[in-house]
Amino acid sequence: MPTTTLRGPAGPFIADAGVPGDKSLSHRALFLAAMADGESRVTGLGPGRDVASTAAALRLLGATVGNGRVSSGGIGAWRDAGAPIDAGNSGTTLRLLAGALAGRPFRSTLVGDESLMRRPMGRLVGPLGALGARVETSDAATPPVSVGGDRLVGADVTIPIASAQVRSAVALAALQAEGASTIDSPPGYRDHTERWLMSLGLGERLEGERFRVHPGPVPPAVYDVPGDPSSAAYLLAAAALAPGASVTVRRISLNPGRSGFIDVLRAMGVDVAIEVTGDVLGDPVGDVRVRGAALSGVRIDGDLVARTLDEIPLLAVLAAAAEGETVVADAVELRVKESDRVATTVAMLRALGAEAEEAEDGFRVVGGFLSPGEVESEGDHRIALAAAVAAPVAGEVTIDGFEATDVSWPGFAEVLEQVWASSR
Ligand code: S3P
Repeated sequence: MPTTTLRGPAGPFIADAGVPGDKSLSHRALFLAAMADGESRVTGLGPGRDVASTAAALRLLGATVGNGRVSSGGIGAWRDAGAPIDAGNSGTTLRLLAGALAGRPFRSTLVGDESLMRRPMGRLVGPLGALGARVETSDAATPPVSVGGDRLVGADVTIPIASAQVRSAVALAALQAEGASTIDSPPGYRDHTERWLMSLGLGERLEGERFRVHPGPVPPAVYDVPGDPSSAAYLLAAAALAPGASVTVRRISLNPGRSGFIDVLRAMGVDVAIEVTGDVLGDPVGDVRVRGAALSGVRIDGDLVARTLDEIPLLAVLAAAAEGETVVADAVELRVKESDRVATTVAMLRALGAEAEEAEDGFRVVGGFLSPGEVESEGDHRIALAAAVAAPVAGEVTIDGFEATDVSWPGFAEVLEQVWASSR
């Protein structure tokens, strides 16, 4: 299994860094463009394997994807793939496919890699079922998921967890239903799908977290995908760990459901400057600059968990370098990501000499201890990416299974090393 060793910079660095296109928005741009009848412009797509899984699935269904364009005869022209569709490592691909395919006249079967085949899909059954879709899973409520062939009728759908993937799946199905639907859930989820549907004239925000979907054809559009804040977070964290260092990332998504990481950095004592520079179809984008500082421990719980979700393994590294204790609670969702991220985050920290312990719904880190070590990615890109950022504080970090980073950021180690070596 390929291993990568990182050591970190010789001294303080000042960098202006580019990051890959946003993964969440890339999936959504591809789906909405493939559901439209005509040609859409889709630029800035994320380069990772997850986005490639969505593009490949949509090609199987009949869309043409490439060269900054997606063309399709509309969702009505989607054809039966005729075999199970493989979503790879990507939960977003599988769950959004389940929603989009729920309204097709044929049945589809959705599968994934070893990690995705263990992830929970029971959460789709009730919400899509409320619209009339029969969603079948394995006995363990995992993939294969089969869906399609049912008449969908608009309904008021309440989702018990703050999952953007489930909300988006319901929205893509609801677009194909007879009559309007509403979607409700706890707060904190990234509302990219809702914002883009509003811009396309296909939805409206109601009180609280309720959103109404107006069924109808999706128009072709121009999607200029901004940078990924979840990727930017690794470079911003590199600066946060190094007093005197500074990193600026430009034109990343500033969706409020993605900005928990910035709120936590500030609570840890980091100097963060944010400038909103525009929006993409109603979803804000802008620049963020972080300056390194002495870090202190924090508590991450409640709605903040959903807004910080994918950055929690990385924040655990910052917590291990901080003074005092950090507690992550209300975060059982971490247990059903690409790996059990409560367990893999604690194992990563311990491999680097940190003091950390698991709780049922999160973990606790006692700051101030990091030493050289060897981390196992467990096939989870976010564990491998977070461990790399620890190198300057730990001394030296070796990561087994570093190729997992290709899921969201092929070439990450080179970019991180360039940032560490920059003097402006
Ligand atoms: C995503 C939503 C989040 C996040 C995932 C991407 C999305 O999952 O963890 O990496 O693009 O909708 P849930 O909304 O299911 O928690």
